Amino acid sequence: MRLAKRIENLPPYLFVEINKKIAEKRAKGEDVISFAIGDPDIPTPNNIIEKLCQAAQDPVNHRYPESDGLPELRQAIAEWYEQRFGVVLDPDKEVLPLIGAKEGIAHIALCFIDAGDVALVPDPGYPVYSVGTMLAGGRPYYLPLIDKNGFLPDFNTVPENILRRAKLLWINYPNCPTGAVADLNFFNRTVEFAQRHGVAVCHDGPYTEIAFDGYQPVSFLQASGAKEIGVEFHSLSKSYNMTGWRIGMVVGNKVMVDALKRVKSNLDSGIPQAIQYAAIEAFRGPQDCIQQHNAIYQRRRDLVIEMLNNIGLEAKPPKASLYIWARIPEGYNSVDFTTDLLEQVGVVVTPGVGYGKHGEGYVRLSLTVPDAGLVKGLSRLAGWRDSRSKFRMTSNL
Ligand SMILES: Cc1ncc(COP(=O)(O)O)c(C=O)c1O
Repeated sequence: MRLAKRIENLPPYLFVEINKKIAEKRAKGEDVISFAIGDPDIPTPNNIIEKLCQAAQDPVNHRYPESDGLPELRQAIAEWYEQRFGVVLDPDKEVLPLIGAKEGIAHIALCFIDAGDVALVPDPGYPVYSVGTMLAGGRPYYLPLIDKNGFLPDFNTVPENILRRAKLLWINYPNCPTGAVADLNFFNRTVEFAQRHGVAVCHDGPYTEIAFDGYQPVSFLQASGAKEIGVEFHSLSKSYNMTGWRIGMVVGNKVMVDALKRVKSNLDSGIPQAIQYAAIEAFRGPQDCIQQHNAIYQRRRDLVIEMLNNIGLEAKPPKASLYIWARIPEGYNSVDFTTDLLEQVGVVVTPGVGYGKHGEGYVRLSLTVPDAGLVKGLSRLAGWRDSRSKFRMTSNL
């Protein structure tokens, strides 16, 4: 048996490795608290679950769904975009439901990337942008996201020869893993850059609803001309705690949406219809759950930041997203530091380098830890500080 080169070259998915380590520890009876994956611990709101159960009882929903989704779902997505962002979408041509944003993010590379083509990808960034590119036979060109630039890419640094081969540009705000946000100005500059170089833009925006201190993230599609050159991926995973149900969407440029529809209709058979009805309920039902969840995340954010700063890790409170991007202490790399935390105090964080070279020097903590675990995890982090200062004292003797 000989595997394809594309599989041999495929790195293991970051969280598969982390989850394996956690499972090994737990199998040995060790208590591990994980701040690693951004998977909301708060349940899906009741009204959504009730709709899902009701729809699951209806035999109409036991059959193959249409691959472009229920017209009523596309309509509900368009209404939500108009009401939330003031963006008007044609539900038949500019909206496509997905089996979670991750699926669409991976598959859209097949619509644009031929062998040797380039996709401009943020570093650090959600790994699927580059993996999708590579599976399609292309090459990611990494755009560094650094603190000095507010974790926004500097398009001026992309060399001419790369620009000539670039077909796609990936951006993601509120950002994973840095927690940075972008304003309309940045999105307008992105549109200008993309138009100048004939590059299609994919904005990945699953965290627009997770925001703090009254801040309201904007949509890329609010930028003037955005729909002529790009699409936005979105998801119900984080907004409505629906990671387990697998539903998201892509909206925007009709040529791009249609191309992805063509790929998907050949590869999958759509989203289970009961889940589509649950998504319609999420968009059209009461929205107060979003404020309630954000209040919980904001309280956790403040507790985590305070503890990190207490133990000497520099981290700023993010305005949005589920993540805290913390600088690690001098003398560590992010993998060693992550291992040290796990071995010493049984706390899991994600090493920044897992998101790319420019993530080195950082770790990511997710705010999706239930309150009891959070308190325990934070007191363990305090314990980690104590053992290090003891170590420093002995090594100074
Ligand atoms: C930046 C980013 N995009 C997309 C996704 C995937 O979302 P979904 O659950 O809709 O596949 C995630 C999930 O963590 C993410 O962090």
